[in-house]
Amino acid sequence: MAVIIDGKAVSKKLLEHIKSETEKLEKKPCLAVIIVGNDSASKIYVNNKKKTALSLGFESIVIELPENVSESKLIEEIEKLNNANNVNAILVQLPLPEHIDASKIIETIKPEKDVDCFHPSNVGKIAVNGNGFVYPCTPRGIFSLLDEYGISVRGKNVVVVGRSNIVGRPVAMMLLNKDATVTVCHSKTANLSEFTKRADVIVSAVGNPKFIKKEMVKTGAVVIDVGITRDRDGTLSGDVDFENVKEVASFITPVPGGVGPMTICSLMQNTLALFKIQNNLL
Ligand code: GUN
Repeated sequence: MAVIIDGKAVSKKLLEHIKSETEKLEKKPCLAVIIVGNDSASKIYVNNKKKTALSLGFESIVIELPENVSESKLIEEIEKLNNANNVNAILVQLPLPEHIDASKIIETIKPEKDVDCFHPSNVGKIAVNGNGFVYPCTPRGIFSLLDEYGISVRGKNVVVVGRSNIVGRPVAMMLLNKDATVTVCHSKTANLSEFTKRADVIVSAVGNPKFIKKEMVKTGAVVIDVGITRDRDGTLSGDVDFENVKEVASFITPVPGGVGPMTICSLMQNTLALFKIQNNLL
């Protein structure tokens, strides 16, 4: 039976640490979030970011723009935040409406304030194992969980399932930087289970409920489930067939309560790191 990794508890502990660090600061870190349109899930996420930032003693700015806002107006808003001395961290909530080029928007954010670590120059730093202080939030959260549970990836065979810019690609580079032997699988991979069965660690980020079955997992493997899908009846499912896979894994993250709570925690760690860099405190 696997150890169930408790993301809620780890997140709570790390957030308390950020709060106590923030209390000692003369000025407060400021996180600005831009949300475009009325997507209900995005609204909930943005509201949680605001509530968490305020609970830590951060300043929070939320800019709400209508669904039909022009790309140039959105760029104008980002540039104002780029130039605002009181703003340390900028996040544009994704997804954006179809008429807006998300890559162009991400590249408009000043790399020094790019709290998501999505700007190509920040992604590039990870790719060359540069000395970054900010990492994409979900991958950073995964590493916080592994650290907290004393799990090292050094020399391990790690299989990442999914190649998105938000999770799969950056987590693969970060694992490589930590001396793992990394294989990235995706929707076109032939014979996926041949790869997963050899893995010491599986990171799955595909968004396909119960896709990783017990037969695909080696006994004693560490299983990190990044997927989160809402079923028709409202229940949340991960990529992993949790009830069966937990019988063979050594460690496993549940959904909800595993990787999910870590993302917001990483966002706050990144905000604090950007604040410190900008104030010569790091
Ligand atoms: N939408 C879903 N996840 C994310 C994230 O990590 N950052 C941003 N900006 N938008 C998201």
